[in-house]
Amino acid sequence: MCGITGCIVREGDVANILYNSLKRLEYRGYDSAGISTIYDNKLIVKKDVGKIDEIHSKLNFLDMRGNLGIAHTRWATHGAPSKVNAHPHLDCEEKIAVVHNGVLENFLELRQELEARKHIFRSKTDTEVIAHLIEEYLKIGKNLSEAVLESVRKLRGSFAIAVIYTGEPDKIVVARNESPLVIGLAKDMKLIASDVAALIEYTKEVIFLQNRDLSIVTPEKVEIIQIDTGIKIDRKSMELNWTLDMATKSGFPHFLLKEIYEQPHTIREALRIQEKYLDLLTEFLDRGREIFLVASGTSHNACIVGSYMFSKLARLTTYPVIASEFIENYGSSIGIDTVIFALSQSGETADVLTALDYARYRAATIIGLTNVLGSTLTRIARAYILQNAGPEIGVAATKTFTSQLTVLALLALRLARKRGKISQNEMDEFQDELRRLPNLVENVIKLSEKPIAELSKEAARFSSIFFLGRGISYATALEARLKVMELSYIPCIAYPAGESKHGPISVIEEGYPVFFIAPNDNTRKHVIGNVMEMKARGAKIYCLGDEGDRELRELSDWYLGLPSVHELLSPIIYVIPFQLLAYYMTIEKGLDPDKPRNLAKSVTVL
Ligand code: M6R
Repeated sequence: MCGITGCIVREGDVANILYNSLKRLEYRGYDSAGISTIYDNKLIVKKDVGKIDEIHSKLNFLDMRGNLGIAHTRWATHGAPSKVNAHPHLDCEEKIAVVHNGVLENFLELRQELEARKHIFRSKTDTEVIAHLIEEYLKIGKNLSEAVLESVRKLRGSFAIAVIYTGEPDKIVVARNESPLVIGLAKDMKLIASDVAALIEYTKEVIFLQNRDLSIVTPEKVEIIQIDTGIKIDRKSMELNWTLDMATKSGFPHFLLKEIYEQPHTIREALRIQEKYLDLLTEFLDRGREIFLVASGTSHNACIVGSYMFSKLARLTTYPVIASEFIENYGSSIGIDTVIFALSQSGETADVLTALDYARYRAATIIGLTNVLGSTLTRIARAYILQNAGPEIGVAATKTFTSQLTVLALLALRLARKRGKISQNEMDEFQDELRRLPNLVENVIKLSEKPIAELSKEAARFSSIFFLGRGISYATALEARLKVMELSYIPCIAYPAGESKHGPISVIEEGYPVFFIAPNDNTRKHVIGNVMEMKARGAKIYCLGDEGDRELRELSDWYLGLPSVHELLSPIIYVIPFQLLAYYMTIEKGLDPDKPRNLAKSVTVL
């Protein structure tokens, strides 16, 4: 997730506005930034690696002249954070500047085609192809808006772009698909941005562009065209009464809720991960004599889900291990044939890095999955995958968990194909289920928010809570426990449901709350047995199960029916109501959902 912004005024310079707007977007990404304006029919570009203020103190953004310009703050996806990879990106002749938020799926094909036509690329980004594509269309006589229209029609993936061109210095052309874009309207001045935070200081009248809209923006007017039909359309502007704080959170009261809501998008982005990276990691996983999945906290819970996926789909045994226990437990037995697959949202967790240092010293192979390009994990791993979930501001991991699970599912499927372990039909079915995920998650958020908010009033008063699940749902129980406990401060217990009778059941007394995670999979009939055991001892049963499961619904005191999904993907669906529950419990208790006490987003101590 990057942030883009742009501004065009009838008279005067826009550098100051762009700089201010860019700073408002810094929370969307902060590894590099840049601004480009047009002055005297030439492009002026200032960009570098680092935070916006660091770059400004080196380059001084404010002395840039020009009545139109575009700007970008980056969260790297393709190409490491560096000056050359920072946006804006230019065409060969440095007449076109482009900023982009999103991930292009077909940039390699496009880049090869353009290189064959002698275009010179300077960066490793997917974005640069857009500048060169536009250049191609301008060369054959199209004007800027036509050239952008033709270019975006060739793009596959997500994008919100803003383009300026020295040949037409009276407009900014913008377009979007899946990544957000909003236009701010003021007299003789128009702004464009990834979100309202960037422009609310200047105007409250906005137009939200819809998917596959292109817009030609001048100081006086905004014209909108549908990318696929080329037909002009009218989009109504609206007046926002948001504060700056609300705008930064896209109108949500807290980052946590915003990030929960972002999951359909972040899962879609994870599904776009390039095949070459999946292939590379698959190769390493297939080669290892033993494979450890090493992580902490939520990332560890993702590892547990991954171990079920690898085993059931690819018939590969992997061992999920808590990072801080790894050296003591397995350190002495690992060696050159060991593969360590480290998962870390931040890529900086000290427990994980210490385990990896040790494993490297024993010549093990390190591979990784992280959300932060340039993090220590990306530097020490032989190969790694980036989740593309964008910065997560809430201390509790939500969207990065479901995007980790999506990547693990993609890897398990690749591995299954490579090892020839499952039939073509099974693979196709799983692939189809993966494609349904973003929409399913969107539905689950919609259908569960109200009943969960209601339930939270009661749940916030519990003094302790049990979470139980069998099979892969055990991992969901662990993550449900972590979310509810770290945010509401209520002590919680999570167990494999089958294990509860070996001790934890003694905790149960009349009215004790027990949450069951019970999708319609192989474990269901045993889960029903566990529900009966708990009920018999007076537990109050809260159950999340299949929407068509009448038996479980009747056995439960409270039931939330969720859509059917492939059993290996059920944690992605079933964790959502628990994220919402944790959020609403903090609200009930008057706590800060974004900053739970005693915790840090990235734990860099042992
Ligand atoms: O950045 P990492 O994924 O390595 O972080 C691991 C844990 O510190 C993190 O998941 C933590 O448990 C969160 N508070 C979970 O919400």
